[in-house]
Amino acid sequence: MNVLGIETSCDETGVALYSTERGLLAHTLYSQIEVHREYGGVVPELASRDHVRKTLPLVQEVLNQASFRSSDVDAVAYTAGPGLVGALMVGATMARSLALGWGVPALGVHHMEGHLLAPMLEEERPEFPFVALLVSGGHTQLVRVDGIGEYRLLGESLDDAAGEAFDKAAKMLGLPYPGGPQIARIAEDGSTDRFTFPRPMIKHPGLDFSFSGLKTHTLTTVRELEEQGPLSDQDKADIARAFEEAVVSTLVIKCRRALEQEGLSRLVMAGGVSANRNLRQQLASILAKRGAEVFYPAPQFCTDNGAMIAYAGAQRLAAGQVDGAEVQVRPRWPM
Ligand code: KG4
Ligand code: ZN
Repeated sequence: MNVLGIETSCDETGVALYSTERGLLAHTLYSQIEVHREYGGVVPELASRDHVRKTLPLVQEVLNQASFRSSDVDAVAYTAGPGLVGALMVGATMARSLALGWGVPALGVHHMEGHLLAPMLEEERPEFPFVALLVSGGHTQLVRVDGIGEYRLLGESLDDAAGEAFDKAAKMLGLPYPGGPQIARIAEDGSTDRFTFPRPMIKHPGLDFSFSGLKTHTLTTVRELEEQGPLSDQDKADIARAFEEAVVSTLVIKCRRALEQEGLSRLVMAGGVSANRNLRQQLASILAKRGAEVFYPAPQFCTDNGAMIAYAGAQRLAAGQVDGAEVQVRPRWPM
């Protein structure tokens, strides 16, 4: 079975072809970062317009990459939510229209399920059950996964998502959108000794997160330094490092706690923030000491992409999901 996947929930248009027999056959991605950069964040209307322009050419590109004709596609999967409503509508409408024209089923996929299953695209795949840490721009969640569709929320952020916190901290330091990769880049030159930022919620029992206090702490630190003059590159690097260390250790502590609580030894990490090298290294080394394993998607499939939607769609189709013909999206959709 060959499934075309279309992702348009935010600011990337991702299209991919996944074969249940042969794996990922083709994928392509168009990022709107340049479109939104001058506004310092995603402008929903501009995002929708760009998805309208890009989706069909990317579908054509993916079919060409795989030397496929449209008649070789057995189903079309698209992100039905959560995300920006206009952006979701574009992908859903394109996917449903293509599927109608081609006479194949179309099905809506949960964006976070896509992220959660992205490590399954790798050669070394985790077996069920496992704990998943989903860390993106919109979500920070720990989920127990017993199989496809068998998810139990263990904990989540009570305020900002981890990626959102990275983006806001980056803005405070005058770094361009999206801030996560920028903080990670300058943090490499930062010192771990100059500032120690609070590790939110680690003393709090349970598996929930909160990043808004860390955001305030970052802002206070920036303002205090600015009273003595403009921040130097070293100041920014040191703040970025302290911020990143605080987020990373909070995530690592909660992951360890989740594995202990559930009596599991496999952790899957996915979503944009899982591309963070420092987080990957610290998680791997701490879990290795405890005999636990950690699985990630390849860096290009950590952030939004069509491959994870094609894969999740193939699994859902195999599990018997059938959607009606109307175009429906769910901007807010708990997993
Ligand atoms: O999963 P994703 O592409 O989109 C959402 O579903 O939100 O995640 C995007 C988020 C952004 O907040 C971005 O700043 C963050 O992931 N991000 C990172 C890194 N790469 C992307 N955060 C920290 N370090 C990174 N290397
Ligand atoms: Zn995402």
